[in-house]
Amino acid sequence: MHFKVTPSALRDARVTVPGDKSVSHRALMLGSIAEGRTEVSGFLDGDDCLATAAAMRSLGVRIDQPSPTELIIEGVGLHGLRAPAADIDLGNSGTAMRLMAGLLSGQAFGSVLTGDASLTGRPMGRIIKPLTQMGAAIESDCDGTPPLQISGGLQLHGIHYDLPIASAQVKSAVLLAGLYAQGTTSVTEPAVTRDHTERMLGAMGVEIISEGNRIALDGGQSLCGTQVTVPADLSSATFIMLGTLLSQDADIIIENVGINPTRTGVLDILRAMGADISLEHPQLLGKEPVADIRVRASQLHGGPVDPALVSLAIDEFPALFVAAASASGKTTFSGIGELRVKESDRIAAMADGMRRLGIRVDESADGAVVHGGRFTGGEVESFHDHRVAMSLAMAATIADDEVMIRDVDNVDTSFPGFCDRVTAIGGAIEILK
Ligand code: S3P
Repeated sequence: MHFKVTPSALRDARVTVPGDKSVSHRALMLGSIAEGRTEVSGFLDGDDCLATAAAMRSLGVRIDQPSPTELIIEGVGLHGLRAPAADIDLGNSGTAMRLMAGLLSGQAFGSVLTGDASLTGRPMGRIIKPLTQMGAAIESDCDGTPPLQISGGLQLHGIHYDLPIASAQVKSAVLLAGLYAQGTTSVTEPAVTRDHTERMLGAMGVEIISEGNRIALDGGQSLCGTQVTVPADLSSATFIMLGTLLSQDADIIIENVGINPTRTGVLDILRAMGADISLEHPQLLGKEPVADIRVRASQLHGGPVDPALVSLAIDEFPALFVAAASASGKTTFSGIGELRVKESDRIAAMADGMRRLGIRVDESADGAVVHGGRFTGGEVESFHDHRVAMSLAMAATIADDEVMIRDVDNVDTSFPGFCDRVTAIGGAIEILK
């Protein structure tokens, strides 16, 4: 599938975007090992989370989906998962693989986790190392990539782990394994990362201590099934925000978006570039804060992006690169080396796409300088990366001519219905099969 984008502008609107991917994955995994029923609304019915749902079903959990955004999970308790009949295929989802590895390390049975071409090229040494220290046995390919073969029947023990990189996936893998470990498991983070795991564990009755950058829990605690209302995904809202900022005069409200402070780096970075963004009707959905985000078209300016905000905006850099290209002057990104091991090498992928559309990008190992300019028409690659595809699609709305974006199937991993939603508010994206 490819996108053909014709220059267009978004118009004033109120919109919704699908549910949060991170929260949806966690609702499935934690709901499955809870005692009793967990009812989820606002679930992200995208390919990544559906892979996690299939994985939990293959482990013996009954999960009904009465509508695309609702789940009823019949929790089996901490020790109720059963051996899967086959390898577990987690598609494109790094979150699913890393969190599941933590969850499965402490089970009585063995399992094998695998995925698509992108996922089987991604580094897993970062979770294998702490989980092994806890007593797990995990085999990977020799370069530390999946498939992962996880042994069963090993008793885990609590450790303290100083995370060498800021990663919510690694933190969550260790904490989930910690539920099955003897004693206390704790981590310290080099920078704050999304804390959805901690919040949801707390909502399900687990005693979890967060003090400064240290998070700790005792093993053996049971989880209580609960109601989870998933906020709209700020990472998906970012593409609508971007399109609005780039459109002349647009004024768009995106409803009920998660504004957990461990995710809102994108708002701070865009505001520092001159974006007119305000939050309306803030409220709590369970343990997660949400608000309507109001964005108005704005003239952006470049400058250095605060590296302290990187872990709070980790998925938003492809979109921020496009914002930088449309800004006056140059924008300097530093400390973003982790982008090279996402669904694609996002620094290289975005630099390639934007250069093909006439923008100057100077790359370094862990950074980039994006020079403001005008997007021309042309043909670009998404590198099978959903966020690269959507970022370039929004860039294309202000290009001088038509833009073709190749291989966009993976947009459905995080933002099913992206094209329809953007087209409904004035964008002109056509899907070519
Ligand atoms: C996620 C954590 C981040 C993020 C990913 C989702 C999560 O990954 O990029 O899209 O749900 O925990 P890292 O932990 O690798 O930074």
